[in-house]
Amino acid sequence: MALCSQGGLLLFAMLILAFNVSGTLASPEIGNQIKSATFLSPEFVLGPGSVEDRYYSNIDFPRGHVGIKSFKAEVVDDIGNPIPLHETYLHHWVVAKYYQRQGMAENNDKHKFQPSDYLFAGNSGICQGDVLGQYFGLGSETRKTDTHVPNPYAIEIGNLDEVPEGYEEKWLLNVHAIDTRGAVDRLGCTECRCDLYNITVDKHGQPLRPGYIGGLRCCYDQTQCKVQQGYGGARRSLYLRYTVEWVDWDCSIIPVKIFIFDVTDTGKRLNGSTGLGPENGCQVEYNVESCSSANSDGCIDAKRTSLTMPISGYVIYGVAHQHTGGAGSTLYGEVIFNLSFRCINKSRIIKMTAQNCCPCFFPLRLTWTAFSLPPHISFLH
Ligand SMILES: *[C@@H]1O[C@H](CO)[C@@H](O)[C@H](O)[C@H]1NC(C)=O
Ligand SMILES: *[C@@H]1O[C@H](CO)[C@@H](O)[C@H](O)[C@H]1NC(C)=O
Ligand SMILES: *[C@@H]1O[C@H](CO)[C@@H](O)[C@H](O)[C@H]1NC(C)=O
Ligand SMILES: *[C@@H]1O[C@H](CO)[C@@H](O)[C@H](O)[C@H]1NC(C)=O
Repeated sequence: MALCSQGGLLLFAMLILAFNVSGTLASPEIGNQIKSATFLSPEFVLGPGSVEDRYYSNIDFPRGHVGIKSFKAEVVDDIGNPIPLHETYLHHWVVAKYYQRQGMAENNDKHKFQPSDYLFAGNSGICQGDVLGQYFGLGSETRKTDTHVPNPYAIEIGNLDEVPEGYEEKWLLNVHAIDTRGAVDRLGCTECRCDLYNITVDKHGQPLRPGYIGGLRCCYDQTQCKVQQGYGGARRSLYLRYTVEWVDWDCSIIPVKIFIFDVTDTGKRLNGSTGLGPENGCQVEYNVESCSSANSDGCIDAKRTSLTMPISGYVIYGVAHQHTGGAGSTLYGEVIFNLSFRCINKSRIIKMTAQNCCPCFFPLRLTWTAFSLPPHISFLH
């Protein structure tokens, strides 16, 4: 039963918050025309049971100072046909921002460069170090999940004021895909069970920690899951096809910040540590124990965490990432903030300040509930 199986389960929620809205009201319409472009990742080749987990630097991405409105991605074959998830499980894909020292030749061999030639430019938090620091990224739920950020908001990129002197902004893509054609245990392969991959050491050659029975350490790039004997199935070329919508930046757009929460987050942040140790913040994955038959409460494993946001703002968009067997995810919030009303004069939009609007700044404790994340997407703003 899927809900009770053991193995790694990734679960995190992505939230986008907007800031600097108190006291002023931007136009709810963004006049700029929405532009759209579809790009292909570099090719990767998968055969039955094989795994691809690679990082591509300097990918195609909208350039200039723009606001991203949506981001969709899916795996396609070399004539552009979408590949069904029961053949290629898209474990996750991630798009992250980094700064590269100007004037460097492109080279995917990162070992040839000084670390200072690259600066990771993470999202706004809240995990430790660079953990879950991406801007965009989901997994197999990407298909048909709305990623649209409504007006007047957008995700600001390409702001030269934010790029460190002597560097330029670039984008990095990580695709982790598992070919489950002919798998002996399809679910086990997507859960990265170490026995099915015959893995005892991680990708750095380090022995797995005792009790580690499944997860990302067992299905790294070029590992192979167990396939039925005599199963044919050709190797084939695949791509991540991603479509980005954006508008040119202007002052009527309210920038939104990206936060990622991990349900395994302990809330602890060790001094300077960016590691994934159990004592330090976001774990990225965790085991769901088998439920015993004696346990009659539905064999549902629920995990909760409670975290404090470093800053306040409006929730503009939220989405959850979960793997096979995941039944749902809910975000609850208790917000203590100085409330400002959005005052809209129906016949014209007025620039509001606390003075010409209502006397509406006062501390308010507000509990908002049941922010169900996909399959439902909700907006609060
Ligand atoms: C599993 O790995 C071990 C050690 O690397 C190897 O000796 C063995 O042949 C592998 N088993 C299979 C079924 O591939
Ligand atoms: C935390 O790390 C910084 C920089 O590495 C160091 O200067 C400081 O003393 C550390 N603080 C503690 C409490 O360890
Ligand atoms: C709320 O606004 C008041 C007055 O401007 C200010 O003193 C207070 O610090 C604010 N509280 C928060 C939580 O921002
Ligand atoms: C709304 O705007 C119209 C047109 O500018 C103005 O005549 C009207 O008085 C405004 N209403 C309020 C309540 O401010």
